[in-house]
Amino acid sequence: MNDTTGKHPDPHALAQRYRDFAVHQAADSSPTLRRWAEAVADDPGLLAPLASLPPGKQQPNLVFAAARWHGARPGDVDSLRGVLTTRWAEFEATVRARATQTNEPARCGALLMGLQQLPGPIALFEIGASAGLCLIPDRYAYTFNGEAALTPVNGPGPVSMDVRLGRGLVPPAAMPDIVWRAGLDLRPLDPSDADTLAWLQTLVWPEHEIRRARLTAAAAVAAEEGVQITTGDLTTDLARVAADAPRAATLVVTHSATLAYLDEPARHRAVEQITRLGAHRISFEARGVDPSVPPIDAPLTPKTLFVAALDGAPYALADGHGTVLARPFSTDAGPVQCFGTVSRGPGWAREQ
Ligand SMILES: C[S@@+](CC[C@H](N)C(=O)[O-])C[C@H]1O[C@@H](n2cnc3c(N)ncnc32)[C@H](O)[C@@H]1O
Repeated sequence: MNDTTGKHPDPHALAQRYRDFAVHQAADSSPTLRRWAEAVADDPGLLAPLASLPPGKQQPNLVFAAARWHGARPGDVDSLRGVLTTRWAEFEATVRARATQTNEPARCGALLMGLQQLPGPIALFEIGASAGLCLIPDRYAYTFNGEAALTPVNGPGPVSMDVRLGRGLVPPAAMPDIVWRAGLDLRPLDPSDADTLAWLQTLVWPEHEIRRARLTAAAAVAAEEGVQITTGDLTTDLARVAADAPRAATLVVTHSATLAYLDEPARHRAVEQITRLGAHRISFEARGVDPSVPPIDAPLTPKTLFVAALDGAPYALADGHGTVLARPFSTDAGPVQCFGTVSRGPGWAREQ
């Protein structure tokens, strides 16, 4: 694969991409997607039509979500074949119309660990906000290592999550005081829209029922909250949204699993613009993606795939969903237990 353009000039290169996806991303996490990816990689009759899609639309996450959307059943390779052959036209329309915008509220655990280092009140501005489920960290309930509970000021609500903290990480003592919040996205999603929610649920890998239930509950909270998400490009439209933030609050720009969508120069531009705003920046990106975060001397494992950083300074390594956090140093391996579902490599982040 050409990593920069995502182009697959021939089905052989695409076959390799699906094989890599099976081994490096799905293997530990989704038996269904592993088998589907292997089946696609081994079948020229499936690869050829997929290779005819625009390069950005050939990615396994999008293809498999669209296939499920049209009836492919988890655990059933024949049903995948059926959709990709007999229902190609509907499948293709879905792939072309929709995008991977996986919104993972559990990343709010990592976000809280950064927010606790900043003075309140907070003006929270997320770029790449999808449906805004990471814009309401104060509306979810948390436990840290099964205790030290934090609950929203207006009551526990329907979303709660346990965050596993490795040695040396201190759980937040209080919820952040968020007085303003806004999002920016190329294609903002409305969490109260049934079709949008169904698509977001489909993007969650088949076996990840806990994540799907959490997403559904979080979408209801976000819909009630009515968070404003502006349509725009984070490389050009940051300042006009940030201009509305109250001056008396600490402006914090956050981005999670988002910079991977940008090429290298655009990632630098995004970081520079946030710095120019005079804002703090909390990032939660796959290691190697945020250009301001220095390389980290720790093995790359499913639970150290992402790095959380405040203004470029790493404060935690994490699985891709933020439910397992460890200190960003090689001597602190952190918890051995791995909750939820993770996979490997920055490519994974780009395809969310
Ligand atoms: C994988 S989702 C992550 C959503 C959320 N931050 C989370 O962690 O759950 C990435 C989001 O970034 C958005 N995005 C990608 N490139 C963008 C850009 N240049 N400007 C604004 N949003 C962008 C996508 O539309 C998508 O909704």
